[in-house]
Amino acid sequence: MGDNLIHPIQKWPERGPLDLIPVISSYVGGKTVCDIGCGAGDLLYEIRRLGLSNDIIGIENDEWMFRTIGESGSKDRDFILMEDLYDLEIPKADVYLLWVPIHLYGDIIDRIPPSIVIDCIEDGKDHKKLMSRLTFREKITYEYNEEPYSKKGKLKNTYRNREDLWSLKGERTITVYEKKKD
Ligand SMILES: C[S@@+](CC[C@H](N)C(=O)[O-])C[C@H]1O[C@@H](n2cnc3c(N)ncnc32)[C@H](O)[C@@H]1O
Repeated sequence: MGDNLIHPIQKWPERGPLDLIPVISSYVGGKTVCDIGCGAGDLLYEIRRLGLSNDIIGIENDEWMFRTIGESGSKDRDFILMEDLYDLEIPKADVYLLWVPIHLYGDIIDRIPPSIVIDCIEDGKDHKKLMSRLTFREKITYEYNEEPYSKKGKLKNTYRNREDLWSLKGERTITVYEKKKD
């Protein structure tokens, strides 16, 4: 693992989505879980490490992520399909994690099989319309603290030369849906 990483499993500098896991554990436990837009795969890796599920699949198309994974010298991200989600058939799963740009949601919802969909983005107006195609299960607000994963200053601007786009501490809301059979 690279010296500049803070959390033992972290590969995506300045990013630690792991506070989400206790919130979704009852949905992902023992299920096939697909993280569409999985970044460096930290979330799925931790789901597996905690023994919640061995059946994990990530999809990611960002070369920067692939380099980050490679540079950290580890082969433990072999559950990631390194492709654009438009270029592959979305793998079958019981649970899908969505935390990708909103314009991709419509296409993803069309293409996934009946399943649980965990929407990790806060909902806006357009968002609500898209998600109305699914059956609402529940909304959960949780606290997150990503300060332990961030070495401010040292790792700033590492992701596509962008500044941090999120607060390191606060509340997030996820919404759980079900895609039912037609
Ligand atoms: C907000 S991140 C979520 C990362 C991950 N779920 C996590 O929590 O660490 C969204 C990811 O979706 C990826 N993404 C965006 N468009 C994509 C596409 N067309 N195919 C595959 N991945 C895509 C981005 O590169 C980015 O890594």
